[in-house]
Amino acid sequence: MKLLVTGGSGLVGRYVVEDLSQGHTVEVLDLKNPRGSYNLFHRANILSLSSLIKIIKDYDAVVHLAGIPHPLNEPPEKVFQVNTVGTFNVLEACALNNIPKVVFMSSESTLGFSFSITRMWPEYAPIDENHPLRPQDPYGLSKVSSELLCAAYTRTYGIQTICLRPPWVWVPDKKEVETYRQLIQEYPKWSKNLWAYVHVQDVVQAVRLAVEATELSFHDSFYISADDNWTGRESRELLKEFYPETTKVDQGFSGTSSLISNAKAKETLKFSPKFAVKDIIP
Ligand SMILES: NC(=O)c1ccc[n+]([C@@H]2O[C@H](COP(=O)([O-])OP(=O)(O)OC[C@H]3O[C@@H](n4cnc5c(N)ncnc54)[C@H](O)[C@@H]3O)[C@@H](O)[C@H]2O)c1
Repeated sequence: MKLLVTGGSGLVGRYVVEDLSQGHTVEVLDLKNPRGSYNLFHRANILSLSSLIKIIKDYDAVVHLAGIPHPLNEPPEKVFQVNTVGTFNVLEACALNNIPKVVFMSSESTLGFSFSITRMWPEYAPIDENHPLRPQDPYGLSKVSSELLCAAYTRTYGIQTICLRPPWVWVPDKKEVETYRQLIQEYPKWSKNLWAYVHVQDVVQAVRLAVEATELSFHDSFYISADDNWTGRESRELLKEFYPETTKVDQGFSGTSSLISNAKAKETLKFSPKFAVKDIIP
C-alpha cells in the first residue's frame, strides 16, 4: 500500500514509519526531518489546508499522528488548535482527494482522567469503549473533538476512520526507562494515569493491523493498552485504595490487569500486545 504518516518524525511516528516501511511505500509529513526508512518526506504544517490538499493525493491510507502529545508544555489554545484544526485539515484534504482510509492516533486522554482538574473516578472497571468520555483539558478535548470529526467524515464522505486510543506510550530509550523506574517507586502519585501504558512496539502493531484490516467498521475506536498495569500491584487493590467510589467491577477482573481494557482491540483488530513492564525495565 502507499501510505502517508503525518507526525512520522515524532517519538511514536519514527517507530511506526520504520515498521510500515516493511511491506509498504511510506511517505512522511511533518514539520521536522524524519529519521530512518521512508520513501519521501513532505515538510508541511497540518494547520495549512492548502498545503495538505497538494500533498495528500493517491494514498491508500493516511496514518495521522501529527500533533501535540499532551497539554503540559504549550498554551491550551495551541494544543487544541493544532490537534483539532490539524485533524480537520487532514480529513478535509483526504475527502477532497478521495483517500479511502485514515488511521487516527487518538488517546486514552479522551476519558479525561490524566489531565483532569476536578476529581474523577471510573464508572466501572475495567474501563472499555462504552465508558463515558469526560475530558476537562485542551488535549483530551482535542482528541474527543477529532474523533467526532473522524465520524463526521466517515458519515459524509465514506472515508474509513479508525481511531486508536493508546495510554502513555513507553519507549525502550535509556533516559525514558529511568523515568519509568522512578515512576514505579512513586506510583501513588500517578493515580490519574490509571497506571496504564503500552509499549511503542505494540502501538506499531495496532497501527499496522488498522492499516491492513479489510473487515473493520467504517468508523471505530479502540483502547490500545498493555495487558497489565505498570505498578505490579493487584488492580482491585489499587481501585480500593485510590478509587473507592468505583464499586462496579467486572467479576473476571483479576491480578494486575490493566484498568483500561484492550478486549475490543483484541477481539476486533486481533491486537495482541507482546510487551510488558519487565521487557522495558530489565
Ligand atoms: N506519546 C504518548 O504517550 C502518546 C499517548 C497517546 C497518544 N499519543 C498521540 O500519538 C501521536 C504522536 O505522539 P508522539 O508522542 O510521537 O509526539 P511527538 O511530539 O514526539 O510527535 C508529534 C510529531 O508531530 C509533528 N507536528 C506537531 N505539530 C505539527 C504541525 N502543526 N504540522 C505538522 N507536524 C506537526 C511534530 O513535529 C512531531 O514530529 C500524537 O497524536 C499524540 O497525541 C501519544
